[in-house]
Amino acid sequence: MYELTNMTALITGSGQGVGFGIASVLAHQGARVLINDIDRARASRAAEHLRSEGNQAEPMPFDVTDFSQVQTQIEGIHAKGSRIDILVNNVGNAGNTPMLQKPFREMQPSEWKNFIDVNLYGVIHCTKAVLDGMCERGFGRIITISSEAGRMGLGIGVSLYGAAKAGAAHLMRHVAHEVGPFGVTANVVALGLMNNVPDAFSTQLIPLIPTHRLGDPLDVGYAVAFLASEEAGWVTGHTLVANGGFATF
Ligand SMILES: NC(=O)c1ccc[n+]([C@@H]2O[C@H](COP(=O)([O-])OP(=O)(O)OC[C@H]3O[C@@H](n4cnc5c(N)ncnc54)[C@H](O)[C@@H]3O)[C@@H](O)[C@H]2O)c1
Repeated sequence: MYELTNMTALITGSGQGVGFGIASVLAHQGARVLINDIDRARASRAAEHLRSEGNQAEPMPFDVTDFSQVQTQIEGIHAKGSRIDILVNNVGNAGNTPMLQKPFREMQPSEWKNFIDVNLYGVIHCTKAVLDGMCERGFGRIITISSEAGRMGLGIGVSLYGAAKAGAAHLMRHVAHEVGPFGVTANVVALGLMNNVPDAFSTQLIPLIPTHRLGDPLDVGYAVAFLASEEAGWVTGHTLVANGGFATF
């Protein structure tokens, strides 16, 4: 079950962190994985690491916020006679800049755009670039990584991030309706607190998580592997929450 042999998966921002965990699980399930990252060296190292474990992995550096780069790279794959069966929209946070946490009233207009570019436009660009090919071939899986901040209001200074995540998740619901008849699904995995956030932020929150631990990138990989599989063909427009039970709705 959930075998991904003969499938090609593009995972954005998978040079490290959650994305690398997703790429690792999909590769172990048999997929050929394309490791996207804006950091070329990081993408190459991650792909090399997975290949050294016997997987099929290639670096695919580009910036998801630049539609022309995204289109050129995806068209390049199609031109080589290859295809993308699975797209995981994983790039998020504040892109390749440190995560800014500030109350909305204190944010300057110059600080808004980056969150929307990375967390919403990045998803729009990559989804648009792969969708026609998936529909023409009659199979495709789009999975967008979101956050609890996109499901609920929080007083921790992440309003623009949360707004962009909610927008990307809602795009998946609309796309799910439009492409369902073509055998393509579009889903969301909404994450709770992961084990790569600073200890100062996470330590006090761990006792409030029913499973008493932070999320591991592999936890996300297992959830994505299900949604990416043939077997999940009747699951679409859905948000799968992976948060250790922190908010049970
Ligand atoms: N870490 C958490 O606690 C947490 C919680 C909830 C949701 N999430 C979501 O999970 C996803 C992954 O988070 P993470 O903490 O593993 O991220 P990360 O910041 O550790 O890694 C993201 C990778 O994306 C790359 N990247 C950044 N901007 C890019 C761009 N424009 N184009 C291509 N690549 C780019 C970076 O170089 C980096 O390697 C994000 O969508 C994030 O919003 C994370």
